[in-house]
Amino acid sequence: MQDNLIVRTTAFAAHVVSAYLKEGDRAVDATCGNGKDTLFLCGRVGKTGLVYAFDIQKQALEKARRTLETAGETAKVKWILDSHQNLLDYVQAQEVQAVLFNLGYLPGGDKQVTTRRESTLEGARAALEALKRGGILSLVMYPGHPQGSLERLALLEMARSLDPKRFHCQHVSPVNQGEGKILPPEVLFITKKI
Ligand SMILES: C[S@@+](CC[C@H](N)C(=O)[O-])C[C@H]1O[C@@H](n2cnc3c(N)ncnc32)[C@H](O)[C@@H]1O
Repeated sequence: MQDNLIVRTTAFAAHVVSAYLKEGDRAVDATCGNGKDTLFLCGRVGKTGLVYAFDIQKQALEKARRTLETAGETAKVKWILDSHQNLLDYVQAQEVQAVLFNLGYLPGGDKQVTTRRESTLEGARAALEALKRGGILSLVMYPGHPQGSLERLALLEMARSLDPKRFHCQHVSPVNQGEGKILPPEVLFITKKI
């Protein structure tokens, strides 16, 4: 069955980002984790493109490599064991067409190793530098846990402060979900206009 796009936030984000990518592009997975998003990006940029995959956990990058191997994906990936806040040490300004952040912790991993407000903000700012004109930054946020809630507030504040002539920011948030249970994920898209 096809993904139900507005129910599954990560699939929805990928669907939107997909429209911004073509064969030969360069892209960044800023939170590689188990490699699902890296695999998606590889599929879009193809053999002539390049994907930078960041994670601070070695085990995540190893798992992601296996995810790609199992899928038979042979697109070029640079695996980077470092925080996305150092993104510009690896990626040039205006080099990439898309940057994905899927915040939070590694599914099935240590929940203490989660993305955090300060490094996420620095990473998002670096990502905006790394984007080409017409490129897109996508951030899937999880306000249902304490760090996720802080990240969400900081990212939305940052987005509101961006020059509307240079950037267009879109925040997608479910309006009838999460009552009495964990708050549902949201997504923030930022495209660089000039
Ligand atoms: C929700 S998971 C990502 C899921 C992944 N995109 C996938 O498709 O499987 C979040 C990941 O971010 C990583 N992470 C946490 N802080 C980070 C940082 N400062 N820089 C890069 N990765 C980070 C975690 O280790 C974890 O693997």
